[in-house]
Amino acid sequence: MQTQQHATVQMDALTAFAKRRGFVFPSSEIYGGLAAVYDYGPYGTLLARNIRDAWFRAMVQLHPNIVPLDSSIFMAPQVWEASGHVKNFSDPLAECKQCHARVRVDHLLEAAGVFADEKMSDEEINALLREHADAVRCPQCGGSDFTDAKAFNLLVQSNLGNFTGNWSAQPTYLRGETCQGIYVNYKNVLDTARVKVPFGIAQIGKAFRNEITARQFIFRKREFEQMEMQYFVAPDAMMDAYEEWRAKRWRFYTETLGFREENIRWHEHENLVFYAKAAHDIEYRFPFGFKELEGVHARGDYDLTQHMKASGKDLTYRDPHTGQKYVPHIVETSVGVDRLFLAVLTEAYEEENLGDGKTRTVLHLPGALAPIKVAVFPLMKNKPDLVAKAREVFGALSAQYMCEFDDNGNVGKRYRRQDEIGTPYCVTVDFQTLEDGTVTLRDRDTMAQERVPASDLAATVAARIA
Ligand code: GAP
Repeated sequence: MQTQQHATVQMDALTAFAKRRGFVFPSSEIYGGLAAVYDYGPYGTLLARNIRDAWFRAMVQLHPNIVPLDSSIFMAPQVWEASGHVKNFSDPLAECKQCHARVRVDHLLEAAGVFADEKMSDEEINALLREHADAVRCPQCGGSDFTDAKAFNLLVQSNLGNFTGNWSAQPTYLRGETCQGIYVNYKNVLDTARVKVPFGIAQIGKAFRNEITARQFIFRKREFEQMEMQYFVAPDAMMDAYEEWRAKRWRFYTETLGFREENIRWHEHENLVFYAKAAHDIEYRFPFGFKELEGVHARGDYDLTQHMKASGKDLTYRDPHTGQKYVPHIVETSVGVDRLFLAVLTEAYEEENLGDGKTRTVLHLPGALAPIKVAVFPLMKNKPDLVAKAREVFGALSAQYMCEFDDNGNVGKRYRRQDEIGTPYCVTVDFQTLEDGTVTLRDRDTMAQERVPASDLAATVAARIA
């Protein structure tokens, strides 16, 4: 990616751009939308798919001891009891007495410059709210009189399997995090996948949370997607594995995705949940400031122990070499597809000044993430020979990657359309092509053009994108 200063990227500009170019649409927009729920348009779908592929390649393809899983969104309700989500998966909610807006109190305090940790008890957070009553303001009406904060559970309930209409019966939930599907399948994987500790299970899938604060675009959604990997290790190996995964995940952002180092940083959790041994977030500089992008957590044996107790099933591991028996400890890496999508857009977006009062909007996406790898243009659309040759070039390239054929408007405008969606290369078929078989290959970032034989295009583009 290039060197433009994205700290100046405005959220409004990015949101409008994402809608205008078919990356992200508000959900059910013709009915006025649904708060904190979004849909991916045609280019957004492709970008999200490439983000998943990049993560999957880094985590599974390049690690022979990490295997994939695709567990269900619905799980037995006991899973969420055992994990602690039914009791403790909550955010502090208060109501503005003036306009009745429901607000997250840790966010209210944060906006007033007061640090409030999500792990604080109701008493602690209410004490802070009272102490800073003069500074906190309702984001909706500006009022400063709030009810006491109460823990609001984030699990989304469903009536799956409830044929009695008895609402006091135990509900099922849409999963609040994907990793629980990994924990409850750990033994199945161990018994079938020929893995030995240390090994990992990686999963990409939807998660659901009744988030109180519905703002910041796709940063905080109520239906979102997680990419989580749980690494199972011997108890005394956990902290080494933790440091190893921290280093690998850092390199994923700086090397694989090419994020500028000034735009990401570590944040170490001071107030850990009781079972965690260590936790770091990788924070990204979003247009609204540095915020969590990914969590790397040393979770100890809490998860498997909880499921072992609640299910009565033996989830211990016997080391085949030493015969030692133990409950594996877990290092987790967890990032949201949607949050990474927003980081990737922020990192790539530029309104570039071309001089002479001209500007262009360009997405400096890494080739692997670009929704369209190559766009093919016939110089003119009313010349059948040019169109036929361009169709032939398009056919050959699109067998290998997502390509777009565009014969609409002048070539300059076609370049601009492709720059906006981050297409790394444009190929123009012109009259010279018909004579010597060469085409013009134009680079998105430098805008330089060169002539290359059409027959070499696939290899040339593949090498550059790689
Ligand atoms: N299993 C651990 C876990 O779920 P988390 O910090 O709650 O930890 C992990 O979530 C990641 O999932 C976050 O770093 C973020 O990237 C993503 N995420 C969490 N809540 C989200 C939401 N409401 N919308 C979009 N992404 C979210």
